Amino acid sequence: MSEVVSYQLKENVGLIVVNSPPVNALSQSVREGILKALNQAQEDSSKAIVLRCDGRTFIAGADITEFGKPPQAPGLPEVLSVIENSNKPVIAAIHGTALGGGFEVSLACHYRCATPSAKVGLPEVKLGLLPGAGGTQRVPRLAGVKAALDMITGGNPIAAHKAKDMGLIDEVLTGEDLESSAIAYAHELHGAGAPLKRVRDVTIDPATVEAGFFDEARTRLAKRARGQIAQDRIVSCLEAAVNLPMDEGLARERELFGELVMSPESAAMRHIFFAERQAAKIKDLSEGTATRDIRKVAVIGGGTMGGGIAMCFAGVGIPVVMVEVDQEALDRGLGIIRKNYAITVQKGKLSENKMEQLIGMISGTTNYDDIADVDLVVEAVFEDLSLKKEIFAKMDSVCKSGAILATNTSYQDVDAIAAATNRPDDVVGMHFFSPANVMKLLEVVRGNQTADAALATAMAIGKKIGKVCALSGVCYGFIGNRMLSGYGREAQMLLLDGCTPARVDSALETFGMAMGPLAMGDLAGLDVGYKARQARTDLPDDSKLYRMGTLLVEMGRYGQKTASGFYKYDPETRRRKSDPEVESMIKTEAAKLGVEQREVEEDEILARCLYPLINEGAKILEEEIAQRPSDIDVVYVFGYAFPAAKGGPMFYADQVGLKNVYDRICEFRDRYGEQYWQPSPLLEQLAKEGKTFAQWDRERSMA
Ligand SMILES: NC(=O)c1ccc[n+]([C@@H]2O[C@H](COP(=O)([O-])OP(=O)(O)OC[C@H]3O[C@@H](n4cnc5c(N)ncnc54)[C@H](O)[C@@H]3O)[C@@H](O)[C@H]2O)c1
Repeated sequence: MSEVVSYQLKENVGLIVVNSPPVNALSQSVREGILKALNQAQEDSSKAIVLRCDGRTFIAGADITEFGKPPQAPGLPEVLSVIENSNKPVIAAIHGTALGGGFEVSLACHYRCATPSAKVGLPEVKLGLLPGAGGTQRVPRLAGVKAALDMITGGNPIAAHKAKDMGLIDEVLTGEDLESSAIAYAHELHGAGAPLKRVRDVTIDPATVEAGFFDEARTRLAKRARGQIAQDRIVSCLEAAVNLPMDEGLARERELFGELVMSPESAAMRHIFFAERQAAKIKDLSEGTATRDIRKVAVIGGGTMGGGIAMCFAGVGIPVVMVEVDQEALDRGLGIIRKNYAITVQKGKLSENKMEQLIGMISGTTNYDDIADVDLVVEAVFEDLSLKKEIFAKMDSVCKSGAILATNTSYQDVDAIAAATNRPDDVVGMHFFSPANVMKLLEVVRGNQTADAALATAMAIGKKIGKVCALSGVCYGFIGNRMLSGYGREAQMLLLDGCTPARVDSALETFGMAMGPLAMGDLAGLDVGYKARQARTDLPDDSKLYRMGTLLVEMGRYGQKTASGFYKYDPETRRRKSDPEVESMIKTEAAKLGVEQREVEEDEILARCLYPLINEGAKILEEEIAQRPSDIDVVYVFGYAFPAAKGGPMFYADQVGLKNVYDRICEFRDRYGEQYWQPSPLLEQLAKEGKTFAQWDRERSMA
């Protein structure tokens, strides 16, 4: 047969088994093997055909390493058409996760059965694509157009029982063994004279789709997934499923899939997909580094971050002790956690029972002796170096040997903190993002003396609690916040130059940022940046610098928490509104400072805000603070809501062309001064050599 697909006749059933580890992806050899097996089954005495997989899952999807390469026969549509036209019923027996092309294979089968723990889904949208092998035509025929829209534009897997309720699968198996249960199901179908049920034969009555449904979906999705075109094309496919015969619908789906595969948005999203996996790898870790077991965790400080961090560990069943200064602070911290869980319960996303279970995982104390037995401590007290040093000295004196001592500091020097202990090799940075229980990014910071085992453990536990981890060296603000400083600075400078806050934010939101920089400042609290600036001695002495942010704070306008900052906020809905008072203040300040206001082009707004990210990113690479350009992209996409459809700042720079970026930075340098715009030597070199960051990284790793 084929190395990855076997066929045998068993109890009168033709049994096709795919065995292509690790996830039975639909590679050319799998497609060819299934085709051959099907042809053989047409000729023998089998009454029905069962298609199942070995290993941990049913076909988990396309082989994405084949994307962008010339297609190799047989194509998936050909395989699906042979399945669908089989003269004996083909039954997909699903376990694990049937995703993407894998689920589409099962949809071409006449029947689908699944183990109770199986999941099915069409995650293509997450790579800027759409299901290109009939998924957009078959799912609405089985589950209805609305459910299909939610499933395909959401991209999340659906559990077997729910999938059965939706009509996507026919049977949830009860027997323990997949193969024998599936064969029994095949006999049952055969015995009952079950017909060859082809999904293509279902027609959707257009009258069942509300008028305006597709237009409404387009508008809503354009807002939710800014800058991504896949959602729009998915809606078009569903429209085709309703209005066109199956074959024309399939042709439309193919055509739009082809467009998306070639789109820059999908290229960017696929870049991020690989970048995320790559970021988890530490380049120079000594071979055979073992990670330490983390069975119990302590979090020091139960404020904004500490509470969220505790929830992360509780969520994966690791008990957490929260340490606070006094009972009152502790009660407040634990209270906020309870409130957060209660909101999730209200939204119907968590049961009361589960909530109590999670809360039961988190205990509180004001006594440091109670953390003697933990395997990991995450410190999240105020951003104050001397306080952090004091706490690390205390941790050092009480924690058992081998415990990992982590700090969630945003800006402080991890080496200075480590030096307050007698075990700097066990100290590491674990920089979470707010809200810590929601945001995906974790910057793992390697100090000068951090041991490989401590580092590897921090990365591994980060992954376990569902974070996307990226490694950073020690510097002010690590990768993400260090880059952010020029971004925020320029957003404010642009105000003096003649933009309103709404104009700056809307330019970046149109680009795809979830929230513009000034609105983000309002959300984080303008006082936070203000305080941080006061502690710095390295900022240029320039009254234009952060002028508006500073004035607003001095007026008591801290942002959302005071219902006013760069914008005014409705205290109930938190919706922002432009504030004429701020706009006239900006004009007055510009006049005072002698800045001539002008009409600033959108293109300049983007370049002024985004190019500092790229330039600082290049410096971070030169200094080896980040391991690779793609790690920086991961930090920005998962920690700062940079649009995945643009691939992160470094990927975006490569698309724009480094020479274009460099030239523009030089232009800004000449206009605004070297204290703000100093092109990175690496950027300059690559611009002159006509290279990209990606090329530079490849060449460097081959050298
Ligand atoms: N807020 C953010 O967006 C964010 C994001 C990433 C990292 N951080 C970093 O996380 C840390 C905490 O920030 P936050 O926003 O949660 O601050 P916060 O002010 O909300 O909470 C700090 C908590 O630490 C407690 N605390 C102070 N001294 C303590 C001690 N000796 N022992 C135990 N608890 C003590 C305080 O009572 C307070 O509840 C800071 O280093 C900050 O830079 C914050």
